[in-house]
Amino acid sequence: MVSRVIPVDPFDLVIFGGTGDLARRKIFPGLFRRFCSGQMQEEARIIGAARSEMDDAGFREMIADAIREFGGGRACEDGTLEAFLNHVFYEQVDAMGTGGWEALKGRLRSGYVRAFYFSVGPSLFGALAERLRTFGLADDESRVVVEKPFGHDLATARALNKALAEHFDETQIYRIDHYLGKETVQNLMAVRFGNVLFEPLWNAQYVDHIQITVAETVGVGGRGEYYDKSGAMRDMVQNHLMQLLCLIAMEPPARFEPDAVRDEKLKVIRALEPVKPHHIVRGQYDADGDAPSYREDAGDTRSTTESFIAMKCHVSNWRWAGTPIYLRTGKKLRARASEIAVVFKDAPHSIFPEDAGRHRNILTIRLQPNEGMELGVTIKEPGPGGMRLLDVPLDMSFAEALGPDAEEAPDAYERLIMDVIRGNQTLFMRGDEVEAAWAWTDPIIEGWQARGEVPKPYDVGSSGPDDSLMLLHRDGRKWRDIRA
Ligand code: BG6
Repeated sequence: MVSRVIPVDPFDLVIFGGTGDLARRKIFPGLFRRFCSGQMQEEARIIGAARSEMDDAGFREMIADAIREFGGGRACEDGTLEAFLNHVFYEQVDAMGTGGWEALKGRLRSGYVRAFYFSVGPSLFGALAERLRTFGLADDESRVVVEKPFGHDLATARALNKALAEHFDETQIYRIDHYLGKETVQNLMAVRFGNVLFEPLWNAQYVDHIQITVAETVGVGGRGEYYDKSGAMRDMVQNHLMQLLCLIAMEPPARFEPDAVRDEKLKVIRALEPVKPHHIVRGQYDADGDAPSYREDAGDTRSTTESFIAMKCHVSNWRWAGTPIYLRTGKKLRARASEIAVVFKDAPHSIFPEDAGRHRNILTIRLQPNEGMELGVTIKEPGPGGMRLLDVPLDMSFAEALGPDAEEAPDAYERLIMDVIRGNQTLFMRGDEVEAAWAWTDPIIEGWQARGEVPKPYDVGSSGPDDSLMLLHRDGRKWRDIRA
């Protein structure tokens, strides 16, 4: 397969929080891989900015270690890493004060794409935006990239939007939800809108229900303090699962363009019905032998924050009326497995005898691991013995289908950063989208608080609390197994 890497325009990219965890784990290794693929031009410049005192050489050392640890691969060994580091610089900057801004400005060149990545807590967004303008680092062409969490609720998200809007136009703001950068998530749009096969069936008339599962095996150890204030609802549902739901449920946009796509996603969020309390199950993982419980990880023996959530949602519009969308996500579950399953209805009439069995078509879109799609179709069980039906998958693992020479899919972060440089906002959340998502989430969380609800304990390595199974059983349905 021929490589289709198209170099992006030369750029100056400033990463605030350049010494932080995200920068070291994701941003720099991602940029390095794009460099290796030939997507970054010679003039590209990446400037880490943070509080610590450090020079370029010290920072380059830190970044080299991070890349070796978090994903440089073979390219680190053959001199490519050194070549990459020549593009990396450092400036000590006081985000809340005046120190370092003039020096940082001196690092920027005119005539290049200019982007500022706020890889810092949201409490600094406003101060950074203001200083970028005051010290003349940013102009009307510059871009700013902001990370989640984008707010803690509707009020804080609104305040962040307002603080950014005082200095930048919406077309300059790139709100990251890294799920939108995942290869299969974009494939979802390709499958839905690039094929004639699925779209006519993609509605309540033919779809019985949809399941979206994002299961993780990791716990919250190490980030308990942040997580305990968020829980699965704020950490995963309000953003990542909501985005998946939007892409599954939205109407076809007129064009694959930022606002056309985001307008359709927004309509889905606004069409979401409030969720009834008995349609939500919250869970918290228990201790497992010597491994700590959620409460121990969170450092609060009485914490009522959920590390698991399952819920039944309804998109109230013509396309989806009566077809539930079940969401489920949690930590320390049986396997790391994320998938979307579209479960179609039974054939309207069976011509086969009762004992042939009844089967359903299920389209499964696997996000991770083993990205791919599987369409379950019903066939006759081979051999003699009459007409018995059997489900077999029309399986398509992308890795297998595209062959060993296929370009390795960029990780979500590297793809999204390159989109920032290209100036393409399609895979970024617009301010109104984020606010609409919080407007739907807030009353749910307030309800728990008002009722003093406590999450149900669940075993590490399980599929979550039993009540989550009941949520579907009550409807005569069943969750798909969580397996890697
Ligand atoms: C992050 C959440 O946004 O996404 C984490 O804060 C979660 O809690 C992570 O583990 C999952 O991302 P991925 O790409 O590993 O599925």
